[in-house]
Amino acid sequence: MDDFVTLVEVGPRDGLQNEQQTLPAATRVELIERLSGCGVPVIEAGSFVSPKWVPQMADTEAVLAGIDMKSETRYPVLVPNLTGFERAANSGAREIAVFTAASETFSQRNTNCSIEESITRIGAVTKAAKNADIKVRGYISCVLGCPYEGDIDPDTVVNVCEQLVRLGCSEISLGDTIGTGTPALANGLVKKVASTIPVEQLAVHFHDTYGQALANILACLDAGVRIVDASVAGLGGCPYASGASGNVASEDVVYMLHGLGLDTGIDLGSLAATGDWISKQLQRRNNSRAGVAYLASKHA
Ligand code: HMG
Ligand code: MG
Repeated sequence: MDDFVTLVEVGPRDGLQNEQQTLPAATRVELIERLSGCGVPVIEAGSFVSPKWVPQMADTEAVLAGIDMKSETRYPVLVPNLTGFERAANSGAREIAVFTAASETFSQRNTNCSIEESITRIGAVTKAAKNADIKVRGYISCVLGCPYEGDIDPDTVVNVCEQLVRLGCSEISLGDTIGTGTPALANGLVKKVASTIPVEQLAVHFHDTYGQALANILACLDAGVRIVDASVAGLGGCPYASGASGNVASEDVVYMLHGLGLDTGIDLGSLAATGDWISKQLQRRNNSRAGVAYLASKHA
C-alpha cells in the first residue's frame, strides 16, 4: 500500500469563496505562500468564475500574479468555461480544475446549465487546455447527496466520472458537497468508481456538515484513495448548497494521516499556525480541532 497521501489544499478557493468578507488579493497571496511553506504539495489558488456569481474570487488574476510559484508545488485554479480558461491561461496557470455535478438541480444552481451542457463546456475547456499543455483536474459535486434532490444514484457518478476522464481530466475529485455521506456509502462509491477508473486518479472532497468527514476519508483510504482535498482551519462551504459547512480541516486530516503512519510532506505545526493566522484575518472561529489542540498544547 502506497504510504504517501497527496493533500490538495482548497482553502484559498473553496474556503474563501464562501466567506462573508472578500479578502484583499495580498492576504490571499500570503495564505498561499504560508501553505506552500508548510510543504503542502497542491494548493487551489482561486477561481476564474463569473465575479457576479462569486465576488470573493474576483481578483484571482492578482493572486496568481502575486505568488512565487514553486516548481514542486501545483497551483490549480477553478474554471467554469472558456472565458475562465482564457483568464487562467493569461495569468500563467499551469493547472486548472473543471467542475460538474451528479445532480441536475445542483448543476443548474451552480453553473446555470444541465450536466450535459456542463460536459460540453468542459470539453471545450479541456481541448484548449490540452493545446496549451495545461493539466486538468475534474470535480463532481453531490456524489453522496444533493441539497435539492436528496440521494444520488452511484451509476450517475460513475457515468459523469467516465466522461470527465474521456475528456482528459487526469484526476477526479469526488465531492460530498453537503457532507451528508457516511463511511460505508463513501467506501462503496469509491470501489464502484474504481472498477472503471484507476483508484490512483481519484481524490475525495468532504465537507464536514455532519461530522463524518474524517471517518469518510478513512473509509476511502481503505478503498485505496491517496488524494484528499481539505481546507486549512476548515474554511469554506458552498454558496449554492445552503447549509453546507466548510471542508474537512487540513490540520485534522494531516494529524490523522500521520497517526496512521502515512506521509504527507506537511509540517503540522506550521499548518496549525497558518490555520490560526487565517482565522484571525477573517475574524472567525478556527474550525480545526487538531489545529486548536496542537497550538494549545504548545502554549500550555
Ligand atoms: P451565466 O450567467 O449563465 O453565464 O453563468 P453567461 O455566460 O451568461 O455570463 C454572464 C456574465 O458573466 C457575462 O457578463 C459574462 O461575460 C460573465 P455580462 O455580459 O453580464 O457583463 N462571465 C464571466 N466573467 C468572468 N469569468 C468567467 C465568466 N463567465 C461568464 N469565467 C457561469 C454561468 C458558469 C459563468 C456561472 O454560473 C458561474 O460563474 N458559476 C460558478 C459558481 C461557482 O463558482 N460555484 C462554486 C464553485 S463549485 C464548488 O464549490 C464545488 C466544489 O468545491 C466541489 C464540491 O464541494 O462539491 C468544486
Ligand atoms: Mg467543495
